[in-house]
Amino acid sequence: MNILILGSGGREHAYAWKLAQSKKLNKLFIAPGNAGTASVGTNVNMAATDFDAIKKFVLENDVNMVVVGPEDPLVKGVHDFFLADAALKNIPVIGPQKDGAQLEGSKDFSKRFMFRHNIPTARYETFTKETLDAGLKFLETLEPPYVLKADGLAAGKGVVIPNTLEEAKKELSEMLAHAKFGNASAKVVIEEFLKGIELSVFVLTDGNSYKILPAAKDYKRIGVGDVGLNTGGMGAISPVPFANEEFIKKVEERVVIPTINGLKKEGITYKGFIFIGLMNCNGDPQVIEYNVRMGDPETEVVLPRIKSDLLDLFEGVGNGNLHEKSFEVDPRFATTVVLVAGGYPEEYRKGDLMTGFEQVKDSIAFHAGTKKEGEKIVTNGGRVMAITSYGETMKEALQKSFANAEQIKYEGKYYRSDIGKDLEVYFK
Ligand code: AMP
Ligand code: GLY
Repeated sequence: MNILILGSGGREHAYAWKLAQSKKLNKLFIAPGNAGTASVGTNVNMAATDFDAIKKFVLENDVNMVVVGPEDPLVKGVHDFFLADAALKNIPVIGPQKDGAQLEGSKDFSKRFMFRHNIPTARYETFTKETLDAGLKFLETLEPPYVLKADGLAAGKGVVIPNTLEEAKKELSEMLAHAKFGNASAKVVIEEFLKGIELSVFVLTDGNSYKILPAAKDYKRIGVGDVGLNTGGMGAISPVPFANEEFIKKVEERVVIPTINGLKKEGITYKGFIFIGLMNCNGDPQVIEYNVRMGDPETEVVLPRIKSDLLDLFEGVGNGNLHEKSFEVDPRFATTVVLVAGGYPEEYRKGDLMTGFEQVKDSIAFHAGTKKEGEKIVTNGGRVMAITSYGETMKEALQKSFANAEQIKYEGKYYRSDIGKDLEVYFK
């Protein structure tokens, strides 16, 4: 099999690393990739959303499967583009079509979907510019803090959680009347604030059967103690100690099965990953959001824990026989610590020389924002690397990730030194 992965982050390096272990793999291409993917496959200088260039490349290079990393190409319809083209339609694409991608592409769609299928989620209402006054009144009926979500994709910044009614009203007006997030905030979902502890569960489906992948917890804020600005994710842990078998069973019965059945009932053929963002509210799962792809950096702890051949599982997704595929999980902990560029998540440094790769031992250094410049590797993004380690205990895995985070050197390096700290109470 020749495979093309679309994307350029740590998630895509993790896909490349895992697929490269498959006996079924012949050639591996990553577009556009990073310095890490270049060590396991061939990078292709092509944007993940340039469908015409992708078509040309796929046909010229005998690509037999396309694995889509980020949501953008899915929401823009890369899978539909393949199905509509006589020369491409038999090449499986891992990732849903446009209709399924709305689960992430529109918060309003995903909330309505959850309500239609009795999937537990926070009470909500949706407002537009025309119904701004009703929205302001609705806010008055809620208790603080307030959760406001731009309907469309807003580069991970579309959720705002003000603490006071006054701020919430101002925010709603800015989003609806002043297009704070452009077209993405033409509609705004306002929902009840859920109290609990967050985690993510990942599902791989061929549209009928599914595999529940290891759960993970990520660390969203930039600062130690989970304070400061939101980021794409500063670290991840799998398994999640408070997500025991009983909790995962509830997630399967109350969320996963109704989601897969709901998609089927609505005539949505869904082939790919479903990322379920959950709040554990006193032992009961509530859905915060769906994403139609894997998480980053969660992928960097989830894939290392999958013992089975990922390519074989992807073939099952493409052929609709995922139920026949074996699926085995490594019981060990996997942890990842993300190294970021100085300044991130605001304006950040780029082009800094990176060294120390040979010193990394007992960890997997997944590249994210890196690129090759001749023989050198330089920083090229906000999140630069994810250092993943295994351990019989979370503590052991984290010790390795932190020790190796120290080995990689570049100007302005920063990482959160408290990844996993909040979970230590579960091991006392
Ligand atoms: P999202 O972009 O939907 O993942 O939202 C970003 C973050 O906002 C989530 O990871 C949660 O931490 C938080 N959040 C979203 N919705 C709620 C809610 N209803 N209650 C509490 N926190 C929420
Ligand atoms: N780490 C969160 C995400 O990938 O959306």
